[in-house]
Amino acid sequence: MQVVTSVDSVRQHVRQWRQSGERIAFVPTMGNLHAGHLSLIEAARQHGDRFIASIFVNPMQFGPNEDFAHYPRTPQRDQEMLERAGCDLMFMPEATEMYPYGLEHTVRVEVPELSGILCGASRPGHFEGVTTVVAKLFNIVAPDCAVFGAKDYQQLTLIRRMTRDLCLPIEIIGAPTVREDDGLAMSSRNQYLTDVERAIAPVLHATLTHAAGRIAAGDRQYREIEAEAVAALSSAGFVPDYVSIRDAGDLGLPAEHGRERVILAAARLGKARLIDNVRIFEPEKRASV
Ligand code: PAJ
Repeated sequence: MQVVTSVDSVRQHVRQWRQSGERIAFVPTMGNLHAGHLSLIEAARQHGDRFIASIFVNPMQFGPNEDFAHYPRTPQRDQEMLERAGCDLMFMPEATEMYPYGLEHTVRVEVPELSGILCGASRPGHFEGVTTVVAKLFNIVAPDCAVFGAKDYQQLTLIRRMTRDLCLPIEIIGAPTVREDDGLAMSSRNQYLTDVERAIAPVLHATLTHAAGRIAAGDRQYREIEAEAVAALSSAGFVPDYVSIRDAGDLGLPAEHGRERVILAAARLGKARLIDNVRIFEPEKRASV
């Protein structure tokens, strides 16, 4: 595996591979890799001949009071994990390489509406930071396809929308959430949990699964289901930010019948802000697929 830090070196490698007709799959990350990230490389394997991963803790997507300074950075371990996973190129730029004019003066990419709801409502500027850096990474790597985790469902939805609206010739692939045995979605931020909080954390997924079960069984009292989930999280010790049932395609408010839905939540537990989501599959729809 090659490890490079400059835009030019990425382009040189990609040019060679493209000349030999190879298809390029890309997995952007902020490092501190875990099994969830590696599953994206696995998914990429089915869609490409060469795999590129980026590791960049993007300052633009962190708010002034968020954990940018403390975000776990483990580049040596990440490199070993990517090597073992069969990655061909690891791109690990400095901030000056990604933002040559400085953060304040960078060109910004924003997806209207979608960036301001759910997590965007409590993290102003976060999704603008994500779509800006992903647009830059897409221009640097110019991959045929890129893989994102469904764990960050709103992020995946925004990136699909951005890619389509900017006419980028990149296929966006969503990969399922990888969980611990007790259901907790794997995340670099789980490290912020104390032992007591870690024992409470799986309640997030259990609560969403229970709510999804009610909806799949035909219950349409969405507001009541959301309120019940918020109450369950609060009594377990979380400080819930939101629990919301949405259209799985565009994250709009769900229609009474028809389209697929997803239930999403964000909640604080001690120092960590945890997010999760569960897709809702109705038995009669699954049977007709
Ligand atoms: P990061 O949090 O490092 O996540 C990188 C990718 O891994 C994202 O697509 C995320 O959805 C996926 N991922 C994380 N945990 C996962 C899990 N448990 N199961 C499956 N996939 C998982 O998301 C970002 O970085 C950044 O916002 C980024 C897109 C790199 C832009 O800076």
